[in-house]
Amino acid sequence: MSREEEQFEKISTRVFRGSEEAVKVVAGEIAALIRERAEDGRNAVLGLATGSTPVPVYRELVRIHKEEGLSFRNVVTFNLDEYYGLADEHPESYHQFMWERLFQHVDIPREQVHVPSGTVERSEVYAYCDSYDQAIEDAGGLDYQILGIGRTGHIGFNEPGSARDSKTRLVTLDSLTRVDAARDFLGEANVPLYAITMGVGTILKARRLVLMAWGQSKAEVVRDAVEGVPNENLPASLLQGHGDVRFFIDSTASEELIRFRLPWLVGSVDWDPKMVRKAVLWLSDTVGKPILKLQESDYNENGLGELLIHSGPAYDLNIAVFNQTQHTITGWPGGKPDADDSHRPERAKPFPKRVLVLGSEPHEDILCMGGTAHRLKDQGSDVTLAYLTSGNLAVPDNLAKQTLALMAELETEVELKRGEGLSLGQFAGVILQSIEDKDESEQDSESTRKIKSLVRRNEARDAARILKIDRESQVFLELPFYENGRYRNFAPEDADVERLEALLEKVKPHQVYVSGGLADPGSVSGVCYRVFCQAIQRLKGQAWLKDCRVWSYRGVGQEWPLHEIDMAVPLSPGELASKIEASFQYRSQRSQFPLRASNHREIWQETDEINRHTAVRYDGVGMAEYEAIEAFKEIPLEALLEA
Ligand code: F6R
Repeated sequence: MSREEEQFEKISTRVFRGSEEAVKVVAGEIAALIRERAEDGRNAVLGLATGSTPVPVYRELVRIHKEEGLSFRNVVTFNLDEYYGLADEHPESYHQFMWERLFQHVDIPREQVHVPSGTVERSEVYAYCDSYDQAIEDAGGLDYQILGIGRTGHIGFNEPGSARDSKTRLVTLDSLTRVDAARDFLGEANVPLYAITMGVGTILKARRLVLMAWGQSKAEVVRDAVEGVPNENLPASLLQGHGDVRFFIDSTASEELIRFRLPWLVGSVDWDPKMVRKAVLWLSDTVGKPILKLQESDYNENGLGELLIHSGPAYDLNIAVFNQTQHTITGWPGGKPDADDSHRPERAKPFPKRVLVLGSEPHEDILCMGGTAHRLKDQGSDVTLAYLTSGNLAVPDNLAKQTLALMAELETEVELKRGEGLSLGQFAGVILQSIEDKDESEQDSESTRKIKSLVRRNEARDAARILKIDRESQVFLELPFYENGRYRNFAPEDADVERLEALLEKVKPHQVYVSGGLADPGSVSGVCYRVFCQAIQRLKGQAWLKDCRVWSYRGVGQEWPLHEIDMAVPLSPGELASKIEASFQYRSQRSQFPLRASNHREIWQETDEINRHTAVRYDGVGMAEYEAIEAFKEIPLEALLEA
């Protein structure tokens, strides 16, 4: 990448195609540092982070230790932070996190590990924090500090408002940070209010800093940290100016950087049709005019003079992009039989098609593409809705308790007699009690999880029924990776890939709808997407696969930008209303996510807003005015085979 393209970036930022490549580089640098120091008979002092971002780095370091004999005997570590109030043994403490993922798998001496304590007496916190900073100094200072970034822009737990020279201290967690942690703690109420964190000043003293970020949810905050004016309201931006700081990000986290978002503003551009479309749609939005009303002056005054030279005049450009955009719209997502399909997003034949809709959890499909799924079915396609995970982690206890109480009560009402062993009602009573007795954020028993999986299954069935999709069309794969435990522990395994591969082989779909390609690779939908890519790779060479198109839909609460859309399926007011009614069925997802609750927006409202907004965007650039639109981007098979 030339310097010209990076002219707006104030922190050296390396963009990797996927996080795996970045992880290898970071782990490789750390391993090299440890070895180099060992040769000189010195320690390597590492600053470590928790959260989902560095998990694959620790996995790679453990691999290097086991397979390549890297010793950690000369390693001293200092972790960035710990939740205040959590004992070391708490399943969500960062102590636990670090031992489970790294320390217990390598030969690091226990006394060389430092993680701030979450249980220091309040009156001693100040002195304790001071001693933590002192211990870092005494160890010779941090050689290499790894960092993640929160959506608030925090590094460590230095939330907005943290001073540049702040030291290790007790801090209050930002509400957005607590929302993001709610899944790990099985509810926002269980997330601690405070934490002990190294200060920004402590972090800045490290000799080398590497911040990693994966997934599109980090794209905006990465942009602000890298391109914005350094300020205390975005603590990661305070890294600007450090002599040896680098950001390692994946391509999805880089999307908001000017060099990718508006490349024509930073240098010469390869004007392929996709780039032309992106530029013209951006221009239409920026000047607030429909495409066909854009003039030469609009192009010139907004940095698109080069485009005019390349593919102008404006009139031709406008017509070309207008037609391209127009051709993304179709009421026939499965292809229109016997129609000329040269300008349609889907081919006419074969008809009807076998369609496989993959949802990472049992609500994603309908919320994100319920209208399209209904259309496909209605227009004669053979639709299978497959849910990759059971989704039980997201079911609140009260919903499981309601179900169990009903079962328990049913017994006395109907006097169910089962002969031997536990009756249904007694069984329900036992699980009910186990939920009552469970400690905060303690993991559910297997039976509770089964019940919670059934809760989600039934929600998915109720939602599909409203859209006239029968239960025989629904497949619940319950991939094993998800059943392994808590969030953040997820990684695709062979058994997952085999299960999905078998389904793909059975259905031999002409169309697959999938999400998660832009998600954090450690999230549920990110892992599901990787499982999908691996399954496709194993099926490479199969004849049916050559005739299969893969359409990507955005995850819950997210919207495709206009220039990315290859197929736009308009929904009538009635279709949107049915979809919203279907969304009501996901009771487990309603106030589950505190972000939605605190914004006073329910999951169905978000869905409604997104679908309506996409239609408004189409209208804005001069297309017909629709009530709502569901949008898809085509993923070329080659991209999946290489992923
Ligand atoms: C944790 C830490 C935090 C995380 C940040 C991102 O030690 O320092 O700043 O790096 O919250 O979290 P993830 O990686 O879970 O997105």
